[in-house]
Amino acid sequence: MRTLSKNLPSGRKNALEKGIIYQTDGYVSDFDPHQEPGVIREYVVGTRWFHTYQPGPLDMYSKGEYQGSISSPLLTLRTGYLANNNSEAQLTEGCYIQPADKLPGYVLAPDMVERVVPLHVASDITAIDFMRGRDAGFPPYNDYRKFCGMKPAKKWEDLYDTIDKDKVEILSRIYDEVDDLELMVAIYVERFIPGAFLGPTLYCIMVHNLLLWRQSDKFFFEHGGFPAALTIPQLNEIRQTSIARVLCDSGDDVKYIQPAAFFRQGPW
Ligand code: HEM
Repeated sequence: MRTLSKNLPSGRKNALEKGIIYQTDGYVSDFDPHQEPGVIREYVVGTRWFHTYQPGPLDMYSKGEYQGSISSPLLTLRTGYLANNNSEAQLTEGCYIQPADKLPGYVLAPDMVERVVPLHVASDITAIDFMRGRDAGFPPYNDYRKFCGMKPAKKWEDLYDTIDKDKVEILSRIYDEVDDLELMVAIYVERFIPGAFLGPTLYCIMVHNLLLWRQSDKFFFEHGGFPAALTIPQLNEIRQTSIARVLCDSGDDVKYIQPAAFFRQGPW
């Protein structure tokens, strides 16, 4: 059994507590034949909220030196840029050096909300995200509050537990009834939960689907007890891999990278 560090980043701690990942050298027996395999639409559409993390300019680096930036929408549908001037390698390096946008900012980068699809005169990624929620026909936010163990709101003030007062006030001017509030809109305005970089409802939806993926799949890589299961040594080799390793192996010119590639290089 590997030892658990006391100073785990809270995201990892949450994932361990929820049973999304396990700290073990053996198989994990969490297959549940009663779970139907699949992806819930709330996961696919809801995770578009991560557009809020996306800065407008993409920074390019070479050997740790800043080389310049390109507006992110300029690369939408225009991958030819990647073939020139080593830009693919420099954008790859930028991916693990550039920080996310200010969080929680509740304001998206202008490039993302004004011209995200450059072939259009104007396009707004948040408006598209809200629209996709309607396309999917999601029930109101209140239904998800119930699903996620919160009390459905009867009046606007009941939302204060998850959404700041100033935002609730704006919502109350836009919607006739609190029960009309849409899931995607609420996801965009919810406060972050402690120790995480997202609001409670998207967190609940993501945990639900991440568990579904592993529990509904008899052949999930950590499951044992079937002829084609990985051996324990194979399993533990795979467990040693990391996003830093993947970027080193497949990035064009990755020479140095922080071992936890989703964390910023220090000092912050
Ligand atoms: C360069 C920055 C980015 C641009 C220009 C961009 C643009 C887009 C566009 C145009 C769509 C499709 C909208 C439609 O339905 O018509 C989309 C979908 C999506 N984006 Fe982004 N995005 C960016 C970054 C991100 C990031 C950083 C994340 C998450 C970490 C993300 C997550 C998603 C998801 C989950 C979808 C839905 C995919 C699906 O329906 O299968 N995007 N994005």
